[in-house]
Parts: sequence; C-alpha cells; structure tokens
Amino acid sequence: MAIRMSKLPRYLHGVGFACAFALASAVCAQNYQPVIGQGGKDVVWVPTPDVMVEKMLDMAAVTPRDYVIDLGSGDGRNIIGAAKRGARGLGVEYNPDLVRLSRQRAAAAGVADLAQIVEGDMYAADIAAASVLMLFLVPENLRRLLPAFLTLPPGARIVSNTYEIPGWPAVKSETVREDCRAFCIVFYYVVPAKVEGVWRMPEGDLALDQEFQRVSGSYDFDGIALPVENGVLEGAAIRFTINGVEYRGRVEGDVMQGTAQGRSRSFEWRATRP
Ligand SMILES: C[S@@+](CC[C@H](N)C(=O)[O-])C[C@H]1O[C@@H](n2cnc3c(N)ncnc32)[C@H](O)[C@@H]1O
Repeated sequence: MAIRMSKLPRYLHGVGFACAFALASAVCAQNYQPVIGQGGKDVVWVPTPDVMVEKMLDMAAVTPRDYVIDLGSGDGRNIIGAAKRGARGLGVEYNPDLVRLSRQRAAAAGVADLAQIVEGDMYAADIAAASVLMLFLVPENLRRLLPAFLTLPPGARIVSNTYEIPGWPAVKSETVREDCRAFCIVFYYVVPAKVEGVWRMPEGDLALDQEFQRVSGSYDFDGIALPVENGVLEGAAIRFTINGVEYRGRVEGDVMQGTAQGRSRSFEWRATRP
C-alpha cells in the first residue's frame, strides 16, 4: 500500500517511510544523526577523522588476515575502514542508536559481511581474538582496559587515536598534518611476549625484568653477573645485548631462541624456563 506524504501527520514530514514505521521503537534509525560531543556511558562520541582512520589502518598494517576490534565503535567507521581493506572486524558500542547507524553504514559500504557491530559494554567485551585494536578512548578508559590489552597474544597491535595508554610507552607515534584539524596523533603499540623471570642457558642463568616491551636483567656467567642491555620485545621478537654480543630471537612459550652476533662470530642460542 502506498502512503502519500500528505497523509502523514505534519511532524513526520521529511521523514522516510521506513523511518516512519520505525518510530514505534522510539528513535528513527534511518535519520539518526549523532552530535559530536554527545554523552556516552563512559566517554562521549567524537568521531575519528576519516584521514586518521586510514592512518591508523596503515600504522597497524591491517590486512585481510586481521581481526580488528574497536571498543566504543561510534558510527562504525574504524571497523568499516578495516573491512574495506578485507579485514574482519567487531565494533562494540553501548549506544543502540549508534549500533543501528553503524550497521546501516556497513551495509551501505557493502561490507556488512565483514563488519560486525554489537551493542555492549566495552569493559565486558571479549577481545581475545583481536589481532588489532583500533581505539579512540580517553586515558581513564585506557587505564581500565590495559590489563585486558596485555592478555592479547604477543604481536597484537593497538592503535590509539590521540590518547596514550597510561604508563605504557608507545613503540611510535605519528601526527597527521593534512586534512586533520583535531585528534590527529596515532599512538602505536605491540603487545609483548612475557619474558620476566629466570631462563636457563647452557653457561648460566638469565634473569630478566620486563616493563612492557623494555627488558633488562643480568646473565650469570660462571658466577659473574653481566648486565642485559638494550633489551626490547616487539611482540614475540626479542633482542638484547650482553657483554657486546647482540642476541636476537623469538619467544615461544617457555623457549626463546635465535642467533647471537659477537665481534668476531655468530652462534645459535637457546634459553628455556627452568
Ligand atoms: C570517542 S567515541 C569513538 C568512536 C569511534 N571509535 C571512532 O573512532 O570514531 C567513543 C564511543 O564510545 C562509546 N562508549 C562510551 N562508553 C562505552 C562503553 N562502556 N561501552 C561501549 N561503548 C561506549 C560512545 O558512545 C562513543 O560512541
């Protein structure tokens, strides 16, 4: 049955038909327009500038192999951007109107099959499967979420618009200067493997301290404690220097191994947790 606009009450004029029928559900999703700065449960809605979405995707080097999660996904733009690069994604958004809007935007962009948006609380979200987190949250949110971030598999990347994760030094940050007037810095993190503790090597024990990706400690070589210097993790890749010898390798569970390069020779090395 066709409905003529003139038959609709005046307050519905200018509203699409599908939208008119949806009014029973309180908000007309098709015409819903979020307002920058509008309230949210734990943080307001401000959209990541489009140029920043692309920059964040570039810095995280998102490919079709990735699973991207945005906590507080707003109108879905980060997940839609990731899906346009072939990556599956999940947006978790508390505001049901934004959830509906995101789903419409994903469908309009032809990526609804890759971009899943769910209504939920970011603090309760299961992020274990993420290979990339794309975030635009304030420091208090990030501080609360930090323990969950550190449970992600080594090598998972996190890109954060404008705000640093409190206490965790970023691997790098980049500023977008063109077509971006506000919220134009990306902070990039890689979840490190966990190496803190004692490792056994053929000639002695390696005792490591770890602060995020920074590694220090000492190597007990025949009763002499040699400092572990310049230690750094990038995901599961580790490197450190002991007595001028640079050790590079990978951490896999209770084993780390690789190649060491001294002044005059290189050799294979292996350390295991006792
Ligand atoms: C700053 S906006 C970022 C939106 C989007 N990620 C972007 O980059 O354009 C933060 C979003 O988090 C949502 N939000 C606030 N508290 C939340 C919570 N506890 N769980 C899920 N979403 C939440 C807000 O509704 C808002 O859409």
